[in-house]
Amino acid sequence: MLQLDFDYAGCVRNSEKVSWKIDDVMPRGTRLDFGRTFLPEGLAQTWSIACLKNYQKLKLNQISANAYLNLFAFVEEFILATMVRSANDDMFSERGSVRALVRVAEEEAKHQELFLRYRQAFDRDFGHSCGVLENKKTVASFILTKSPMGVMMVILHIELFTQQHYLECVRDNAEIDPFFCSLLKNHFLEEAQHARVDALELDKLARAATPAAITSAFDDYLGILAAFDGLLEEQAQLDVKSLAAASGVAFSEIDVQAIIRSQRRAYRKTFLIYGMTNPQFVSYLGQLSPVGQARVKEATALYEGEIAASSPVPSTSTSPSSSRNATRLLPTAIAKSGISETAIDIPRPSDAELAPSPGPRSSSVKAPRPLPSSEPEVTMRAPPPQPPDLARPLAALKSQPSTTRPSPPSGSVTDLPKPQGDGSLVIEVPVDATVFVNGVERGRGPQRVDGLDRNGKVVVRILCPGHTPWSGSVNLEGKPAAKIRPSLKRAGP
Ligand SMILES: [Fe+2]
Ligand SMILES: [Fe+2]
Repeated sequence: MLQLDFDYAGCVRNSEKVSWKIDDVMPRGTRLDFGRTFLPEGLAQTWSIACLKNYQKLKLNQISANAYLNLFAFVEEFILATMVRSANDDMFSERGSVRALVRVAEEEAKHQELFLRYRQAFDRDFGHSCGVLENKKTVASFILTKSPMGVMMVILHIELFTQQHYLECVRDNAEIDPFFCSLLKNHFLEEAQHARVDALELDKLARAATPAAITSAFDDYLGILAAFDGLLEEQAQLDVKSLAAASGVAFSEIDVQAIIRSQRRAYRKTFLIYGMTNPQFVSYLGQLSPVGQARVKEATALYEGEIAASSPVPSTSTSPSSSRNATRLLPTAIAKSGISETAIDIPRPSDAELAPSPGPRSSSVKAPRPLPSSEPEVTMRAPPPQPPDLARPLAALKSQPSTTRPSPPSGSVTDLPKPQGDGSLVIEVPVDATVFVNGVERGRGPQRVDGLDRNGKVVVRILCPGHTPWSGSVNLEGKPAAKIRPSLKRAGP
């Protein structure tokens, strides 16, 4: 069904050429250079936040870099589990795929360990603890209840944008920390093979799927992204707290909201839009289902519309990364620039890149100090209890309304989770408006949302064609129900 010019055996061969060891990429005891920008501005977008001073922009960039790597470790949890499951499924039939799948699984576990080591170094030296999403096991176990094909679409989306980030933002970028650059390069080298294995797996699933199953897979893909969008909002809120602590500043509520908006915008573009607009991914979607491809394009326009509507007034501050990255990284700019799809196809690493980069060698990275024998081994932190807010996107994902779905998502409605509260909110909007509650798409037209916390904040966002995106928060103030009718403004000519 998909037109592919690679196979599992080739993926294994390429994987063997680029494979690296954690201790070579990040020796134990590596110190981070907090005088440098870590995450490219094209992804972080912290230098456009007008209310921040330059030293705060640098700190927020570093906080974002830490969260960026943690988000990879986060999604690698369900990627690893999916690969193990797929290998198990193929064990007695498709032996050609087993080695490639197991190899991807092993590499994802290695990436998680690397990113954990980075996070521990960051926590040790940054000076303040920075909040990151912790509930990856809960999220992974939930995602694995969705259709294998929908989950594989999400994985392919992630592994393609991972490469795009490196190729367009990181490679040859002398303005970011060389160690961070090296870290992402080594990750990219292995991810290049992962995306091919994903495409082969997606093809295998699609060949066995009915048209209805393919439609359900698109439902699941869009539903998982919407839930992930909610988690990104949680991360944005954690970031502003981390920045306040690290800066020793109590930001005004207006500034807090401006920072959160900027972080949300950056995360959404980095983790959603990049994947949804990746030319190779879009091509695969079209081969699976032109109707599904059109749905993803429509969802992309809604996300991009909101990003454009919340764009900041350009700051007078000059980013060390300059506008060079900011302009060349926009997916829409790529599409308009006439760059052919093959230019950002699943990349084939150059010969130089096929030689693994042996970790921090730059003078900006302090020489790793030998690890004393008494220094403890890296260990996984016990995840803290899951905050209720982090559960909401997942709960909502299980109850995607039929109003926007041609067919119900796979899975039984009997497994819906118990509501988090007993409050209800009625949202009155035009029939063609799309309603999001706490970062999760609820459907088009008027909506009633149950199971809300009566005393918690409910974030509502409305995207309506021809109108400026609307967002606001509602507090039920202990009442069992409330109704809102947002006044939508017509978009300008
Ligand atoms: Fe990875
Ligand atoms: Fe991967």
